[in-house]
Amino acid sequence: MKTRLRNLRENAVMRKLVRETTLAPHDLVMPYFVRTGRGVRRPIASMPGQFQLSVDELVREVRTLGKTGVESILLFGIPARKDARGSGAYASNGIVQQAVRAVKDAAPGLLVITDVCLCEYTDHGHCGLIRRGRVDNDSTLPLLQKTAASHVDAGADVVAPSGMMDGVVAALREALPRTTLLSYAAKYASAFYGPFRQAAESAPQFGDRSDYQMDVANAEEALREIELDIREGADIIMVKPALAYLDVLRRAKEKFGWPSAAYSVSGEYAMVKAAAERGWIDEKKIVLEILTSIKRAGADFIVTYFARGAAPWMT
Ligand code: PBG
Repeated sequence: MKTRLRNLRENAVMRKLVRETTLAPHDLVMPYFVRTGRGVRRPIASMPGQFQLSVDELVREVRTLGKTGVESILLFGIPARKDARGSGAYASNGIVQQAVRAVKDAAPGLLVITDVCLCEYTDHGHCGLIRRGRVDNDSTLPLLQKTAASHVDAGADVVAPSGMMDGVVAALREALPRTTLLSYAAKYASAFYGPFRQAAESAPQFGDRSDYQMDVANAEEALREIELDIREGADIIMVKPALAYLDVLRRAKEKFGWPSAAYSVSGEYAMVKAAAERGWIDEKKIVLEILTSIKRAGADFIVTYFARGAAPWMT
């Protein structure tokens, strides 16, 4: 035997020398849910360790986030009132707009990404306007433009359209030529979002999202979605969920070589938390293994609810 692959596994220093994938806190984006009120820190039952925060509590949170090495956050809003047109999404003093201003004030160096979608703001819980029982694509686009523009006015660095409307990236690029666009390019109609809908109070009140989000069975279609978003002006493309779609992430990275992100979603977080609480898995090891595998598959960075908690484990 001339080739002895175990030689390089002999000790930790050697293993580190030849390690192909590394993880650092700055590879992670921490999502937060922000709601109205003061002093609110409401635990999310389906996502142990995560909270709905009022703006003042979010500010406290981000003041100390920098110490962990995590430098980017993603904001979701839960408005006081919902209506058919999701008007809270694009109100200049809406909850996300207030939160962005406060965060930028308290922690100017933090990169602030905002989720651009209507589902948290519509009374029917869908990601766009309803016409004849279906989410209407083209009349939704101007509302998403307004939403993104109001986030940028408030100081957001990056806007992330997540509603899977056709042409949304082109619409945002036209409205915001100088803003970084992180497109949820391949977003699947996934059961892994279950805990999020409790967190964001955004469950659809009728039907489901399978007439705009992607069929979990499709990968070629994901590549078409991603290619189109790149052509329309996406700076970064994202695959969501992460772990069950690493094949898509890998193929996208190989095919387009574009800045690529993965969203490790609420259900991925909840499964790990639930098993760890029962003592069935080693949370720290599992989280590092999952995040490493997502990077290995092709992600330049990862949106994950573990960001804050896992950052200290990465030394
Ligand atoms: C909004 C949105 C969702 C998620 C991110 N943005 C919910 C959905 O599509 O139903 C899910 C994130 C998660 O599960 O962590 N469209």
